[in-house]
Amino acid sequence: MSKLSNVAYTVGSLFFLVSCSLSIFYGYKIVTHHLPKEESAVKKYRYHLILVPEELDNEYWKLVEKGAKKAAEKYSVQLEYAGPKQANIDDHVKTIEMSAASKVDGIITQGLSDEQFTPLINRVVAKGIPVITVDTDTSNSKRLAYIGTDNYYSGFLAGKALIADTKGNANVAIITGSFYANHMQQRVKGFQDAVKAEKRIHIIAVEESEISRVKAAEKANQILQDHPEVNAFFGTSALDGIEIAQVVEKYKKQNQIYIIGFDTLPETLKLIRKGTIKATVVQEPFQMGYGAVKMMIDLIEGKKVSPIVHTDTRILRISDLSVNNGRMGEHE
Ligand code: BGC
Repeated sequence: MSKLSNVAYTVGSLFFLVSCSLSIFYGYKIVTHHLPKEESAVKKYRYHLILVPEELDNEYWKLVEKGAKKAAEKYSVQLEYAGPKQANIDDHVKTIEMSAASKVDGIITQGLSDEQFTPLINRVVAKGIPVITVDTDTSNSKRLAYIGTDNYYSGFLAGKALIADTKGNANVAIITGSFYANHMQQRVKGFQDAVKAEKRIHIIAVEESEISRVKAAEKANQILQDHPEVNAFFGTSALDGIEIAQVVEKYKKQNQIYIIGFDTLPETLKLIRKGTIKATVVQEPFQMGYGAVKMMIDLIEGKKVSPIVHTDTRILRISDLSVNNGRMGEHE
């Protein structure tokens, strides 16, 4: 080893030892996920919260994150955003378990299914770590509060919109994010209940996209092959409607097939402007994220929090776009 690298090695080791002792002295929590180093070392945060979505890179979840970050900045809270890169239930569960083990001050996540999430949430809460569900609720669990869409009602609204927007026989195919997730089941159920009494509306098929664009497109394609009588689609999660629309455009059937989707991602709004998607169910992901962080702080500080907060949901059509310019879901 040269003299120079010897010196570098000694300085490096010294630096390492000093930072370790400082961390122990100040009792900094070692977290499982990565925060910018300078940020966590320099800034003093009141609490350390984690938001665990089912899919990190999903644009819908980025809006939830954006809202949560905004509230975190305002209230000097350290917020981590961690979870599966692509929807994966095992990774989702693992991230929650790791966050609990690293003793965060609060966990904000979806209550995707009663089977996997209720016992897990109950275990975490029993350890003294508060859990708030966002976007999807497990009402049977011991989560302290839920903030998000009333998912049954949002599906019901979609059914009513389809009734209002179509005439004659409507043969509907539903592509849902997942068969097991609570919110997806509720959206489908709400839709079915809304159209139940309409003799001219028939639900021909219900398929699952697994929150994957490729799968949503595959399913839409298959449905059109197997059921050429289908003339309406309902996509119950953010990416389903977009992919249904691509397939319908491929077959040049946009004038014959009615599509109602979910959420107001830029691609969806573009397809509404084009006329391929006729309507979409608006959710407020930014508000969910913002509100969840605020509620968590209140809970930690012993303030009273309403156990169920429903964010706004409504139907959006092309006629609504000219008025508000399509900037959806980013306001507090
Ligand atoms: C749902 C989210 C889901 C997303 C998938 C949204 O409509 O509310 O739970 O992760 O779609 O793209």
